[in-house]
Amino acid sequence: MLSQDTISLSSIPVVAGPAGRAMAQPMEADLMEALQQHLTMERQSSAAYFAMAIWCAERELRGFADFFKQEGRDEQEHAGTFADYLIARGQTVLLQELAAPRQTWQSVEELMAASFRMEADVTTSLQQIYAMAERSGDTRTTVFLDPLVEGQTNSENTFAHLLGRVRFAQNQPAALLIIDGELSAGQHENASLA
Ligand SMILES: [Fe+2]
Repeated sequence: MLSQDTISLSSIPVVAGPAGRAMAQPMEADLMEALQQHLTMERQSSAAYFAMAIWCAERELRGFADFFKQEGRDEQEHAGTFADYLIARGQTVLLQELAAPRQTWQSVEELMAASFRMEADVTTSLQQIYAMAERSGDTRTTVFLDPLVEGQTNSENTFAHLLGRVRFAQNQPAALLIIDGELSAGQHENASLA
């Protein structure tokens, strides 16, 4: 009886993941690869937004520059969220090479359209990982992704709103400066009817 109660922890079999940490459920290789690639996509988005912040700062659009600076920081944080998740699942985090971000745009409208497109692409990537996780019965991953997909829907809404307002301006400096002032004041949310 005594020997049963004082059983040593090391005699309990615990599977270790690639990082040597305890791993409750192994992750399918293609799912793990997709998560790693998504982490890279978030870091790439962070670099892209930083480039956009620079482009705006060079043109005295300080509200737009502030907005994109914060977006860049948010994307870096999202990359951290994926790194945390991979570590929690016993995986190692592989940092991949980033491409130099685009730094030239013809207009604020073109820049806003590019940023909306980028947000939509990030959502598509999450959806693909979600489907992959469902196929492999990896509920932990679908639960992890749920709030991130919701966050992406909100981001798309914000960028669609800003793109719409920039389109109203039709490249007229006076109108763009009004939007720039709104962004300086932290106003970037669409109308709410709820
Ligand atoms: Fe993100």
